[in-house]
Amino acid sequence: MRYAVFSDVHSNLEAFEAVLEAAHKSHIDQYLFLGDIVGYGANPCECIAHLRKLCPLIVAGNHDWGVVGMTDLDYFNEEARASLVWTKEAIAEADRIFLSQLKLVQESVRFCIVHGTLSHPEEFDYMTDGQRAAKTFYLLEQEVCFVGHSHRPGVFVDDTEKIYYQVPKRLDIVKGRRYIVNDGSIGQPRDGDWRACFCIYDDNASTIEFRRVEYNIHEAQKKILEAGLPRILADRLSIGR
Ligand SMILES: [Fe+2]
Repeated sequence: MRYAVFSDVHSNLEAFEAVLEAAHKSHIDQYLFLGDIVGYGANPCECIAHLRKLCPLIVAGNHDWGVVGMTDLDYFNEEARASLVWTKEAIAEADRIFLSQLKLVQESVRFCIVHGTLSHPEEFDYMTDGQRAAKTFYLLEQEVCFVGHSHRPGVFVDDTEKIYYQVPKRLDIVKGRRYIVNDGSIGQPRDGDWRACFCIYDDNASTIEFRRVEYNIHEAQKKILEAGLPRILADRLSIGR
């Protein structure tokens, strides 16, 4: 099976459509979505509609839960809070029901998916260091755990003797090792590269490939400003931070 693994769309329709086109050309069998379809951007309804059509295996992000009142708004910074209040008004009741029914963790035979960490998925911690990676590896029953949330693509590897971090363009899965793979972000990358980021996981070839896709960033920025959302949410897209 070939999986497109993606997350953190954040209502950025231009970035999402560019990634969907790239995925479509890559002969994808199934989609894995690691959370945060909404928040920050100006097209939450359209992004939710595209996502639902894909019938992905899906988990909730903090913004998805925040917009339906399942994560306290105090968790978020000022700009994120403003965008969630705006999003709450923008989406339909059916969208609210869809978001409120998302689970925190989903598992398959060879992989699992979660937005933040396996140790406290409901707290939406960031997978930023070896200690947090070790706690997730302790609970991980499969060879790969896909995570999002930090908006920075990268991989923690457990080679049974130590845990180390790398930022590869392509990963060959080695038998006996385990991996925590952050797929980056489609709608608001924070690794200094403005292009939308996602992964293609091939479980027959045992490979994970990181892809970057250019999109119409000016249109996405224009819509954020026209919606009256905080200017920084438009500006930061250009620098990928
Ligand atoms: Fe996010």
